[in-house]
Amino acid sequence: MVEKVSLNFTVNGETKTVHAWPMARLLDVLREELQLTGTKEGCGEGECGACSVMIDGELVNSCLIPVAQVADANIITIEGVADGEKLHAVQQAFIECGGAQCGICTPGMVLAAISLLERTPQPTEEDIRNGLAGNLCRCTGYMKIFDSVLKAVQAH
Ligand code: FES
Ligand code: FES
Repeated sequence: MVEKVSLNFTVNGETKTVHAWPMARLLDVLREELQLTGTKEGCGEGECGACSVMIDGELVNSCLIPVAQVADANIITIEGVADGEKLHAVQQAFIECGGAQCGICTPGMVLAAISLLERTPQPTEEDIRNGLAGNLCRCTGYMKIFDSVLKAVQAH
């Protein structure tokens, strides 16, 4: 019989211990056990990117990750990208360019953009489109989102 397990991992620089079913979705553990509700659920099927987080530097869909897989991992959620009160350049640009409307896709978009900029510090517009291709927005025509990422690039 499967039983709950205790797991340790790091979230946004803090060590956490959770007691969860091994197959519990990381998305649910983050939101319900750790109250990190910045990570959103859109499709729940790995299609929309709303639930994106970084695990050991890789952008992943947390709705597809059983929590047992993240034992001892280093996780960054949207709550961990600002530097104290100072927003990340991508967050600031989303505010200035109106890149968020309902906000459901925004945490995933911001994390996807940060992941892109870590790999490609000077992306072209095409790089930005490709970098955000796994993240769906139901509210916008994407232009303000792409503008936000371009602005963050220019702000560097
Ligand atoms: S909620 Fe995870 S990809 Fe859509
Ligand atoms: S801002 Fe609403 S889904 Fe993107």
